[in-house]
Amino acid sequence: MNILGIDIGTNLIKAVEVKKEKGSTQLLKYSYSSAFNEPLLSELSIDTDNFAKKLREFISYSSFSSENVIASLPESHVFTRVIELPKISKKEIEKAVFWEAEKYLPISIEDVNLNFQILPSDTTLDKEEKTEVLLIAAPKALVNNFVKILEKTGLIPLALEPESMAIARSICYNEESFPETLIINIGSESTTISILVNKYIRFTRNISTGGTTLIRAISQDIGLEMDQAEEYMKSYGLDESKMDGKISSSMEPVFNVILNEVRKSIAYFETKKSPSRVKRVVLCGGISTIPGILIYVAQYLNVEVQKANPWLKITVGDKYSKKELDELGPMFAASVGLVLKEV
Ligand SMILES: Nc1ncnc2c1ncn2[C@@H]1O[C@H](COP(=O)(O)OP(=O)(O)OP(=O)(O)O)[C@@H](O)[C@H]1O
Ligand SMILES: [Mg+2]
Repeated sequence: MNILGIDIGTNLIKAVEVKKEKGSTQLLKYSYSSAFNEPLLSELSIDTDNFAKKLREFISYSSFSSENVIASLPESHVFTRVIELPKISKKEIEKAVFWEAEKYLPISIEDVNLNFQILPSDTTLDKEEKTEVLLIAAPKALVNNFVKILEKTGLIPLALEPESMAIARSICYNEESFPETLIINIGSESTTISILVNKYIRFTRNISTGGTTLIRAISQDIGLEMDQAEEYMKSYGLDESKMDGKISSSMEPVFNVILNEVRKSIAYFETKKSPSRVKRVVLCGGISTIPGILIYVAQYLNVEVQKANPWLKITVGDKYSKKELDELGPMFAASVGLVLKEV
């Protein structure tokens, strides 16, 4: 079966098409485009019609041919949280999750699609008698709108899931054991921090700082238009040897806001799960492609840092440019994770 994985971000739409058969997933095509101006969250039929029309154009421009699609829900609109429950039966968990969700949710429980994942107990981690559950609540309005748009585009939605869940699936664990991994997904409007233990998300946090905040800082500091500031960010990034370090020093205060949140997340996790330690950090999202980022993050956090390479999780033929795939990998982590979902 051929499947499309579409990650509709605020700034960019990223998609891959794969052929799935007998346990193998083979890359057919990948493509990205600027996001459309039509509001994704508008329920007006003129907006969903226009969105679908643009999406159809993107699909035809990319020569995608599959109708089956798995799409990601924007993290900034989805509520995910790891909660702790006493050790109770699965049936009781279902009920308890509902009550717990009601406590934490910023919107009414009637207005969300509630999902949860019971996290496997890990005796080395869970000293106390507790069950951890990952709560995922997506606003019904968002899900319905998304499905409507995909159907109007002529696609068959097989599943929808938050970006962070898809990304977790695309992180490579070819090693014998999977080290505790912190993922930083820096997109345009927001950054999501997740900590994985044995491939499961055990901590997640979303902050509203991302590419746009970085570009605005450069624009204001140096007196450039936003478009121009974005080009400078993409070309020079956090590389201090470029432009007398002007671009990197404009970006640093904003970038440090993100990294301080990461430090706090690490401290919280390590205190709670002592003696567990975050062993590596994996960067993804469009901002992870800017120059100098790897060294900067490694020095700031003093931990091993890698860029996501989701292509390692699927079969990629020789006809693709390895250089381009390496460069774009961090941007495609969610799209690849989507097609790896069992449906
Ligand atoms: N080669 C590139 N092409 C386009 N944008 C890039 C590139 N490299 C870096 N960027 C930057 O990456 C950001 C977009 O990243 P990404 O696609 O992960 O965000 P998004 O998914 O659209 O946003 P969000 O997840 O916040 O909704 C933008 O700020 C853009 O300036
Ligand atoms: Mg994104």
